[in-house]
Amino acid sequence: MKLGIEDISLATTSLVLDLDEVAAAQGADPDKFRIGIGQDSMSIPAPDEDVVTLGAQAAQRVLHGQDLSAIRTVLFATESGVDQSKSAGVYMHRLLGLNPNARVIEFKQACYSGTGALQLALALVARNPEQKVLVVAADIARYDAGSSGEPTQGAAAVAMLISATPDVLAIEPVSGLYTQDIMDFWRPNYRSTAIVDGRYSIKAYLDSVKQSWRDYRAQGGHELSEFDHFCYHQPFTRQAVKGHATLAREGGVDAETRDAQLEHTLDYNRVLGNSYTASLYVGLLSLLDSSPDDLTGHRIGFFSYGSGAVGELFAGVVQPGYRTRSHRTEHRAAIDGRTPIDYARYFELHERPDDVDGGDHPRERGTTGPFRFAGVRDHGRVYEPTSAGA
Ligand code: COA
Repeated sequence: MKLGIEDISLATTSLVLDLDEVAAAQGADPDKFRIGIGQDSMSIPAPDEDVVTLGAQAAQRVLHGQDLSAIRTVLFATESGVDQSKSAGVYMHRLLGLNPNARVIEFKQACYSGTGALQLALALVARNPEQKVLVVAADIARYDAGSSGEPTQGAAAVAMLISATPDVLAIEPVSGLYTQDIMDFWRPNYRSTAIVDGRYSIKAYLDSVKQSWRDYRAQGGHELSEFDHFCYHQPFTRQAVKGHATLAREGGVDAETRDAQLEHTLDYNRVLGNSYTASLYVGLLSLLDSSPDDLTGHRIGFFSYGSGAVGELFAGVVQPGYRTRSHRTEHRAAIDGRTPIDYARYFELHERPDDVDGGDHPRERGTTGPFRFAGVRDHGRVYEPTSAGA
């Protein structure tokens, strides 16, 4: 029995900031960002966008035409959670009109948790193949303004329908795993931006690539030369290039194979920025949407990394139906349709006070998406459809 991704789609925010604006504000050479870290721009949330609205927007597309009664589990992966107790997925569940006879849970382990949710979804479907699981990975990456992490912000959500009829990608059972307790990136409860030891996090990521690969091979996984493509968690696209150079050395493939395996997997992340849990799957969509070739039968490798730190390396094979499930046109429209803002407007949005005083805080309208965060009322978050979703 094949198990895997039946449908997959992404959503991003309504606003975008070109990294030349950040370079000018920081007095940095724009090439440091475009070439040095491999990023051109980053998605910025409008005041009424958050992980719930982004997740619901991405999920709406994969739910189209589905029998919602088959979806009895919803897994929401994020490290930009909106509540310490209630899952962001429960808010999303209502917005999407999902089956009340379902379980909804939020998953957290930095940028890794989308993969954790995916693997648990596969186990649930293996146990009960007529059921489908909705997995949503959604994040808004935030670092302090003026910090070295600032140009590596971004935002996106990816929704995946996991089932025993995987029209897009059949996921293979072997995984390589690696966990170590380290402080390379984290966000304490009292902060809205992450603390990161940037250089250390790069080293820890590369170490995790190596250790996850060794475990993958020890578990009976394929040789590196058997992969047509490789998708990486991308805090910035140069990290994926560094990761794959490390893997190519470990797996003994030549430079031509190495570069071909990474082709088309970086395009979306370069313009969306970091989307934490979603970023690996944004890389997959970048490949599926951008490659001119028929990818049917191609084996794709995945490296998922969440600081702190957990790594997982696994593989999937593209299925014949992947083109019929394509949302390429909508993805391009979402990316190209973002409204450019200047550094001053970004800074204003970035520095707005968090709603932490216990009062009511309505949010001004700004999203072009189908759902909005209307604000905090009586300590609760209020979400509503917009005219774009009507
Ligand atoms: N033209 C081309 N390249 C340039 C350049 C220029 N004018 N100026 C600098 N660079 C290169 C540097 O050589 C370096 O490349 P290298 O890593 O291959 O050596 C790269 O740009 C970054 O420069 P660096 O001085 O290291 O930048 P930084 O100190 O501002 O920090 C990060 C970069 C990525 C560490 C920082 O953005 C960060 O902390 N990001 C968040 C953490 C993160 O995403 N971690 C990843 C693991 S999950």
